[in-house]
Amino acid sequence: MDLQIKSFEDYQNTYQHSVENPEAFWAGIAENFYWRRKWNNVLDWNFKEPKIKWFEGAKLNITENCLDRHIYQHGDTPAIIWEPNDPNEAHRVLTYKQLLDKVEQFSNVLKNNGVRKGDRICIYLPMVPELVIAVLACARIGAIHSVVFGGFSAQSIADRINDADCRLVITSDGGFRGTKDIELKSIVDDALVQCKSVERVIVLTRTRTPVSMIKGRDVWWEDEIKKVETQGNPPCPAEEMDAEDMLFVLYTSGSTGKPKGVVHTCGGYMVYTGYTFTNAFQYQPGEVYFCTADIGWITGHSYIVYGPLSQGATSLMFEGIPTWPDAGRLWDIVEKHHVNILYTAPTAIRSLMAAGDSYVDGKNLSSITKLGTVGEPINEEAWHWYDQKIGHGKAPIVDTWWQTETGGFLISPIAGVTPTVPGYAMLPLPGVQPILVDENGKEITGNDVSGNLCIKFPWPGMLRTTYGDHERCRQTYFSAYENLYFTGDGCLRDENGYYRITGRVDDVLNVSGHRIGTAEVENAINMHSDVIESAVVGYPHAVKGQGIYAFVIASQHHTDEELTRLDINKTVSRIIGAIAKPDKIQFVSGLPKTRSGKIMRRILRKIAEGDTSNLGDTTTLLDPGVVDEIKEGAEKLRG
Ligand code: WT7
Repeated sequence: MDLQIKSFEDYQNTYQHSVENPEAFWAGIAENFYWRRKWNNVLDWNFKEPKIKWFEGAKLNITENCLDRHIYQHGDTPAIIWEPNDPNEAHRVLTYKQLLDKVEQFSNVLKNNGVRKGDRICIYLPMVPELVIAVLACARIGAIHSVVFGGFSAQSIADRINDADCRLVITSDGGFRGTKDIELKSIVDDALVQCKSVERVIVLTRTRTPVSMIKGRDVWWEDEIKKVETQGNPPCPAEEMDAEDMLFVLYTSGSTGKPKGVVHTCGGYMVYTGYTFTNAFQYQPGEVYFCTADIGWITGHSYIVYGPLSQGATSLMFEGIPTWPDAGRLWDIVEKHHVNILYTAPTAIRSLMAAGDSYVDGKNLSSITKLGTVGEPINEEAWHWYDQKIGHGKAPIVDTWWQTETGGFLISPIAGVTPTVPGYAMLPLPGVQPILVDENGKEITGNDVSGNLCIKFPWPGMLRTTYGDHERCRQTYFSAYENLYFTGDGCLRDENGYYRITGRVDDVLNVSGHRIGTAEVENAINMHSDVIESAVVGYPHAVKGQGIYAFVIASQHHTDEELTRLDINKTVSRIIGAIAKPDKIQFVSGLPKTRSGKIMRRILRKIAEGDTSNLGDTTTLLDPGVVDEIKEGAEKLRG
């Protein structure tokens, strides 16, 4: 069976079959992968507990699907093309054969360092090929990877390491991003002061910045590789995994303070990311596919590593940032490597658009045939710029809606098959059953309606639990509405039945396509000694999509407001990471609260948006007077 849907009619038939007979449908798709043993049962589920089991009884290793099975016919096909931060440094290409060799080699390094199936490994690396190698080596020996994005702070690393009880950390001396050299090992050292479970740290050389190697704990990646070479580079056969064994944990923010470890398992995740990758992008052999995300996020896991590699694709990864040495960097990369498919975030598109057309005019982008976006709703202006300037009006844009928890795309056009409308994710992929509900969980049927977006039937790529706390998984995703997975997003379905995601309906912000919980930012701000209380909301930001607006009650101590602002930003960077720094901090003497003490964020959101004409009902407030003061302060801050 051909995995790819070829026409809209084909899509409609496939979709219908997938809904009427999901088990037969997914079994058929799964036949396209390599299993050591097939499943006894396709699906066992209920959303009450929740219990979600796909392909029970099946045995596999995802790296055999991503590497070994391509070697015979496509061993010399590039698997990874790596473009360094500095355009003057040589790029690297790893063919499938070379990548397999390196993965086996590093798998043996992990084994030599005592790693066994089921162990949790924290990976904190820059965007270098060794990050892909480390991820796949974990998967090969059945260790569970927990990749932490290089922008997170020592405290965030420590929280994640402790939550999953990681035994080993893989990092590098540093990482290059634009003009910056980020001292990753030093940040890890700060984190490990709080982590008793970590016995070993493997350190890759990248920037040659000085590092402190602790005797008995820290070893160099390169030395460990040499040991394996001295052993004669033995192969490392892939560990046999159950379909429902854990593959990885990835932490993501929610409406409460503490990020949760989203758990994905081997079989379903493999099938789902492979199927959605090849379909949405209509990947053709030989095409060069470039996803600009970082592997520290789910987009990188699913659509730089596992999805493309399971399909034998050529996946281009980029170490740097789109604006360095200048805002033409992505276009230079497209030209240099003849990129056919480009997948990036609306925030990147907006910032490159704002830099001016001079950075794109004159670049040869004729190789591009398909485009994608992810992470947040895309505004029409950015969509048209992307379409005209980058796609020259000829490349379909797939606006892929999904989440860390969904593992892969749920609602997305299929390139060249599904019609597209700017700002719309369009239609559910096969196997995905979206429904809109009102506050009471009542289904909103028909077209030209909007509501809260839920999914009523499992798909193979969905999360199975939150690490170490199944009840939290149930609470967060399966308790709002009975027998439904709740996405946290608002959504409209237009008169044609096309879906448009309108944004989060919970207290979660989407800043440059990254999810940040307001409670998490508030907790961090509140750790500053001058802060008594704070409330964080999002506001429209021209480049980031949403900016972070903090209303802060500070104690008498502060004399210099600007300095206190910088101090608070520093605190947030320390506790979470620079990505969570507020864009605006307004000092207030009180917050709008109900008599029961609940902060009325609706009012703060309106003020932050600069729309104070209609603040709605404020009569239930404990002190309605505070609103006028906050309004005045906001106007002053805007200047
Ligand atoms: C949230 C998930 C999935 C990878 C990147 C973010 C928003 C995601 C879209 C889109 C509108 C989108 C949603 C979602 N989102 N893609 N195409 N259109 N909104 O992953 O950090 O798990 O965040 O991002 O609000 O719930 P994430």
